[in-house]
Amino acid sequence: MLRGSSRVPEHAGLSELIFIKSFKADVKIGLFYFKRFMTDLDQLVQQAQADFAQASLPAELENAKARYLGKAGRVTELLKALASLSPEEKKARGGQINAAKQQVEAALQARRQALAEQEMQAQLHAEALDVSLPGRGRGTGGLHPVSRSMERIEAIFGSIGFDVADGPEIETDWHSFTALNNPENHPARSMQDTFYVDMKDEQGRWLNLRPHTSPMQVRYARAHAQKYAHLEAQGLPMPEIRVIAPGRTYRVDSDATHSPMFHQCEGLWIGENVSFKDLKVVFTQFFKLFFETDDLQLRFRPSFFPFTEPSAEVDIAFESGPLKGRWLEVAGSGQVHPNVVRNFGLDPERYIGFAFGIGPDRLTMLRYGVNDLRLFFEGDLRFLAQFK
Ligand code: DAH
Repeated sequence: MLRGSSRVPEHAGLSELIFIKSFKADVKIGLFYFKRFMTDLDQLVQQAQADFAQASLPAELENAKARYLGKAGRVTELLKALASLSPEEKKARGGQINAAKQQVEAALQARRQALAEQEMQAQLHAEALDVSLPGRGRGTGGLHPVSRSMERIEAIFGSIGFDVADGPEIETDWHSFTALNNPENHPARSMQDTFYVDMKDEQGRWLNLRPHTSPMQVRYARAHAQKYAHLEAQGLPMPEIRVIAPGRTYRVDSDATHSPMFHQCEGLWIGENVSFKDLKVVFTQFFKLFFETDDLQLRFRPSFFPFTEPSAEVDIAFESGPLKGRWLEVAGSGQVHPNVVRNFGLDPERYIGFAFGIGPDRLTMLRYGVNDLRLFFEGDLRFLAQFK
């Protein structure tokens, strides 16, 4: 029986009981409660660790944290309860509770880190790149082989002082034929050769899809003559005409070496003292530069064109390579006919020169060893991609 038990109020709580015991009993009971308190604290820490370990998401972990360290958390409650204790007890228990609190906080921190690490790993996994997969290459376009030839032609003639002119693909009868000294009954005018457009010009003649680039001789030379008419009026020489006019041309024709749409490059050099010799020099130089070889010969074969007199077809023969020894026709040319010079608006007694028409499609076939012209215009990327 406890001494002085009469002094113990019936409603006395546990802590009050501890302090009304005999000294011996006090120590014993105090020790008992101390041990129990410590076990409770240990359990609390273990429970917190287990709770934290259970949390598999940061939000769950924060909820668990609130149960221990939040305003009404278990650790916080214990600390609050210290207020009602004596200073010694406060010190002793306070130290123990704080130690437990530190353990709880350490466990929380460790779990937080573990979860963050987990989350990062999951993200890395989700966003993983398989660097061994074949890349998705971005296709780059390329120039059409005929465009490449056109650019080469322009660059070479440009380097020897030729202007580059562009003109309409729908032409008048006069520019396509009459001005170029074509007789009224010339077969080129016939429906078999020339495409006509369902429209008439001012003379009531059908417009045509130009069957050659030669109308550009006329257009350019006339503009040039007009531009320098004031010099002519003063008896001064006008600058020479030196021009090329590359572009699309059309004829009713289709086989391995003919396409209804094809390309030509017209050339014209007119001055007071321009001769066939100049044409030979220019052409020889041009073909050597175009094919990047000195190993070729040029042949001027007499021919006929209404707009030139004399006229020549130009053949080349390579002295090496797969085409060695074969004569290949590459251009038409000649000294511009006086009637045509007159149609330029110039005096044929004073101005003379030569003209030529090169087939860029043909040059492209020779340059790349292609034997069917139609391949160029079918738009098959497997073929075209080879020319990048
Ligand atoms: N226009 C001719 C044709 O289409 C090519 C040609 C030949 C053009 C001789 C010329 C030339 O300027 O002088 O076949």
